[in-house]
Amino acid sequence: MSQLEIKDLHVSIEDKEILKGLTLTIKQGEVHAIMGPNGTGKSTLAYTLMGHPNYTVTGGEVLLDGENVLDMEPDERSRAGIFLAFQYPVAIPGVTVANFLRSAINSRRRAGNPEDKGMPIPEFRKILKEKMDALKMDHAFAGRYLNDGFSGGEKKRAEILQMATLKPRFAILDETDSGLDIDALRIVSEGVNALSGPELGVLVITHYQRLLNYIKPQFVHVMMGGRIVESGGPDLALHLEEQGYDWLREKEMTSE
Ligand SMILES: Nc1ncnc2c1ncn2[C@@H]1O[C@H](COP(=O)(O)OP(=O)(O)O)[C@@H](O)[C@H]1O
Ligand SMILES: [Mg+2]
Repeated sequence: MSQLEIKDLHVSIEDKEILKGLTLTIKQGEVHAIMGPNGTGKSTLAYTLMGHPNYTVTGGEVLLDGENVLDMEPDERSRAGIFLAFQYPVAIPGVTVANFLRSAINSRRRAGNPEDKGMPIPEFRKILKEKMDALKMDHAFAGRYLNDGFSGGEKKRAEILQMATLKPRFAILDETDSGLDIDALRIVSEGVNALSGPELGVLVITHYQRLLNYIKPQFVHVMMGGRIVESGGPDLALHLEEQGYDWLREKEMTSE
């Protein structure tokens, strides 16, 4: 069984320390949620895990089955089985959802074997159809231009379909409060629920307690001031809904 270990991670953006010693282990098959107020560094964690160049790791480690993830390029991380849902997906007019997914699969195959001729189209079509059926998506969706005029919900649908076809071992979903309508929320949740199982570890990052009414994480963590200040089970999310974050602020202060 695989595990993704984040150990005492420190990350800065433009010399300002944002993550101040974050520790978290996710095993394959587990669903974790990180919640926390705006500006605490939740997205910083997601981008750092994916290797975004603006985020400088100044301490700690991230290991995938003992292998140093921080030394890998973003595409190597993806090939190693880490998936990060794009927070702000770009529109690619002229490229259909199907073309995009096929080239993602093929570039991964080619990275493993430069001689690879790519996945035969009939095989790709079959996989795509199976995934779309599993996610209850209309097949016409695959023929649309990626993100071109997509609603918030359709962008999420493309993202979840990408996750289904790439079959990561760990998926990190950063859900911002802005632009996440109820439809999008439902699509992400149903997608995660449909894809989760013993092969997949999920980290859902959200500011939105409501998301956790749909996705049922086994582990809930609260992040404040760049570190995890509280961890618990699903009842922690309910407690936060009732009490807000104030009761935890003291904890954050004393851990400075
Ligand atoms: N590109 C950037 N340049 C400078 N500061 C940034 C940048 N991106 C984020 N920050 C700062 O980093 C902190 C954490 O941001 P972020 O990780 O987006 O938090 P969250 O996702 O929890 O709302 C905030 O104080 C934010 O202002
Ligand atoms: Mg964020």
